[in-house]
Amino acid sequence: MTPSTPLRERRSGLPGRRATDWNPPPEGNGAGCRVLDLPRITDPRGNLTVIEGVAQVPFDIARVYYLYDVPGGESRGGHAHRDLQQLIVAAAGSFDVIVDDGTETARFHLNRSYYGLLVPRLTWRELGNFSSGSVCLVLASHRYEEDDYFRDYDDFLVARAQADTA
Ligand code: TYD
Repeated sequence: MTPSTPLRERRSGLPGRRATDWNPPPEGNGAGCRVLDLPRITDPRGNLTVIEGVAQVPFDIARVYYLYDVPGGESRGGHAHRDLQQLIVAAAGSFDVIVDDGTETARFHLNRSYYGLLVPRLTWRELGNFSSGSVCLVLASHRYEEDDYFRDYDDFLVARAQADTA
């Protein structure tokens, strides 16, 4: 998705049926982040998506965590990481991820479990607009370390500017 591109409607192949397809196109990118189109094994019994370290994401997966039972109107995130890279997937429902690389911001609306937003290091992120019952699945390149966080936006901006000029 180009983050500012309006979400698209497409017609389904079935006569008389109109399907609203809110998928972000997988080529989308913004603020250094991009949406990956993950492998889908479709099956009448239910679909399956697989994510393997290095094959689908450009890092070894050291940690998996997920956000769930997020009350309506709540937001998460509000930080950046020094070294951590992440893949963020709407495993159920939908939510927005707003990312900021210090000079550009982009909003990604994730609403399909076969799209993953790749968020590189030194990227400020906020998550919000969670739908009821949504699950935000996060695959991370490192184990949890509080020292890896920037929780102050100005500290993040300084570090990002230093990294960009190094
Ligand atoms: P945080 O990363 O700030 O959550 P979010 O960005 O989703 O709003 O983490 C919230 C709390 O959970 C914080 O006290 C740290 C703790 N935590 C862990 O102990 N391990 C983890 O892997 C994560 C992601 C968080």
